[in-house]
Amino acid sequence: MFYNENCISGARNYIKDNSIDLIISDPPYGIDGDLLDKHYNRDESNVIDGYVEVAAAEYPQFSKDWIKEAERVLRPGGSIYIISGYTNLRHVLNALAETKLQEVNHIIWRYNFGVYTRKKYISSHYHILYFVKPGGEITFNRNSFYSDDEKTSAGLSANAADREDVWNINREYKPGEIKNKNQLPEKLLRKMILYSSNPENLVCDFFLGSFSTAKVAIGLGRNACGFELNKAAFEYQSEQVAKITKGELLSTLRNVPENKNINTGKKLTDAERETIISMYNKYIQNGYTKKAGIEKISEALGRGRFSIANIVSDADIAAQAEPQNSLF
Ligand SMILES: C[S@@+](CC[C@H](N)C(=O)[O-])C[C@H]1O[C@@H](n2cnc3c(N)ncnc32)[C@H](O)[C@@H]1O
Repeated sequence: MFYNENCISGARNYIKDNSIDLIISDPPYGIDGDLLDKHYNRDESNVIDGYVEVAAAEYPQFSKDWIKEAERVLRPGGSIYIISGYTNLRHVLNALAETKLQEVNHIIWRYNFGVYTRKKYISSHYHILYFVKPGGEITFNRNSFYSDDEKTSAGLSANAADREDVWNINREYKPGEIKNKNQLPEKLLRKMILYSSNPENLVCDFFLGSFSTAKVAIGLGRNACGFELNKAAFEYQSEQVAKITKGELLSTLRNVPENKNINTGKKLTDAERETIISMYNKYIQNGYTKKAGIEKISEALGRGRFSIANIVSDADIAAQAEPQNSLF
């Protein structure tokens, strides 16, 4: 569910305690968002008006209020990623320090083409604060992108390289597309969502902007919710997000070769079983053989073929398949 409301009162009114598996939030920067186009020296004609900023003087209390709500709604073991510029970073860190959330990583997201400056270094990074709520099972899918055995061209572990805490991910330039100021790249969102949630989990963004977190989360077979104060952005983007078919991005995931360490010891949840069965039904309806369907699901979810074969055989699902629109 998406709400055209202030995230602080909106979370209080609509989101239950301990109900969210993953929060990804990119709050307003408190640096006067209306000047961002001048910083970036870019054409703003496709940017939706009405980005809601927070006055610099209010930033400390604003950060405390929304982060307190985020802590309340996150399930024990759930993860939160907060994207922050350097200007107000200390207020975000102070607000986090007033909660019981625990720091896991302080990530640096390095992007291309920072804000142009003449007499100082050009800033081309953001901070991503990755914290978890203690008390429950933490989701961290280590083999989301690479198996433990894969090597980079330099012979190093590809898996370890992908899990370094400096992320080089370029911003996306989408000329002609209607967007929010500071839209996050899909690649960045995929990384956080795939490592820190499972299919059917609930992903929340307190500051939806272009709804980019929600779009990628739904595309990857998760559920999404969140808030956006800007009415124009909310109305336009709610229509866009409704056009996304749940799971449509799963078939674009890299084929991670199986290795014996993949997802070892991690039990499948009932929701994951349901996702496997529903994906399998769709493959069969689209003419895949049982073997090919199982292989595709194994690639998409990073699960062994053997466990997927057991689930689909037990359920005798081919016989029960309901007619549905093609996802793949
Ligand atoms: C940095 S942008 C988010 C961009 C988004 N991550 C994307 O990829 O498009 C912050 C957004 O928060 C919205 N906003 C500001 N204050 C808010 C509040 N109290 N509750 C909900 N949304 C708010 C702004 O209008 C803006 O769209």
